[in-house]
Amino acid sequence: MTQAPVNVTVTGAAGQIGYALLFRIASGQLLGQDQPVRLRLLEIPQAVKAAEGTALELEDGAFPLLAGIDIVDDAKQAFDGTNVALLVGARPRTKGMERGDLLEANGGIFKPQGEAINAGAADDVKILVVGNPANTNALIAQAHAPDVPAERFTAMTRLDHNRALAQLAKKLGTPVSDIKKMTIWGNHSATQYPDIFNAEVKGGSAAEAVNDQNWLENEFIPRVAKRGAEIIEARGASSAASAANAAIDHVHDWVNGTPEGDWVSMGVPSDGSYGVPEGLISSFPVVCRGGAYEIVQGLEINDFSRSRIDASVGELTEERDAVRKLGLI
Ligand code: NAD
Ligand code: LMR
Repeated sequence: MTQAPVNVTVTGAAGQIGYALLFRIASGQLLGQDQPVRLRLLEIPQAVKAAEGTALELEDGAFPLLAGIDIVDDAKQAFDGTNVALLVGARPRTKGMERGDLLEANGGIFKPQGEAINAGAADDVKILVVGNPANTNALIAQAHAPDVPAERFTAMTRLDHNRALAQLAKKLGTPVSDIKKMTIWGNHSATQYPDIFNAEVKGGSAAEAVNDQNWLENEFIPRVAKRGAEIIEARGASSAASAANAAIDHVHDWVNGTPEGDWVSMGVPSDGSYGVPEGLISSFPVVCRGGAYEIVQGLEINDFSRSRIDASVGELTEERDAVRKLGLI
């Protein structure tokens, strides 16, 4: 091993996404085949034993790139010196819980985690929030880490992006690799807008190749936006391996760059682009270079897209106002 290990913190490590994620990080799929990693697993005290079990299995993988594993139940320890933080653990909505209750319960998790990142993370820290409601949880954590550049806090919409690629490829009977420039706009929720008007298939317009407004409005958009619920209905549990896969894709591309002639979707703090209020963590098309990302500029937004983007951004604004009212940001 020539390079120093990168510290990767995973919260909710004993959960189902954690189980699908950790082995792929250890095998080099997150940061590259020449980059050793040291894993720091954060869990609540009741789940530490289960995380220890996963760590035994990681050891049994004999991964050449895995330089060590620490398991902690304290956020300060978990984020001390961390370079990549994957915030997966969150409070799921349970029966009888209102949206406000959910936001408040998650505030109790993401506020101290933001503070701990602020106190101890490495200068180059990159943060991906997976735990739902991902965009607003990222906003809460970011609000409590004033010394960390705001753009390092991102939320995961890559699963939605990948779902949209797969559905479009299926419709057109073409490999996923033929499709470029897919965009997810807005919130990681049922209001999200998967946009094919700027997407390309074999270099031509995806929207023209589809040429089916009924499919777009009544099949594609709802299918992608409600895929999480479809998976829960079918599996009896929310998506895990596909979510872990998307988290790997998100961080991999942020660190290593997006391919020439393509972009990806990430939930990032808005700089006001495309009329999204500054500071909201909303999904945009981004290109990544040299370990940083930039929102793709100058895309044409037609009236149909505009109204869909506005609806999802409206929901994000409501979530931000709700957590502000609760004193969480
Ligand atoms: P899970 O219930 O299997 O695991 C969650 C884990 O988080 C549990 O082990 C729990 O003990 C832990 N946890 C709870 N509070 C914690 C805290 N304060 N610190 C550290 N760990 C804590 O859930 P899962 O299936 O792994 O999903 C995790 C989250 O990811 C959920 O919120 C889910 O809705 C979300 N999710 C997001 C996307 C996305 O695309 N953004 C996709 C799928 C799932
Ligand atoms: C998903 O998109 O699969 C998840 O965000 C669904 C959920 O509510 O956990």
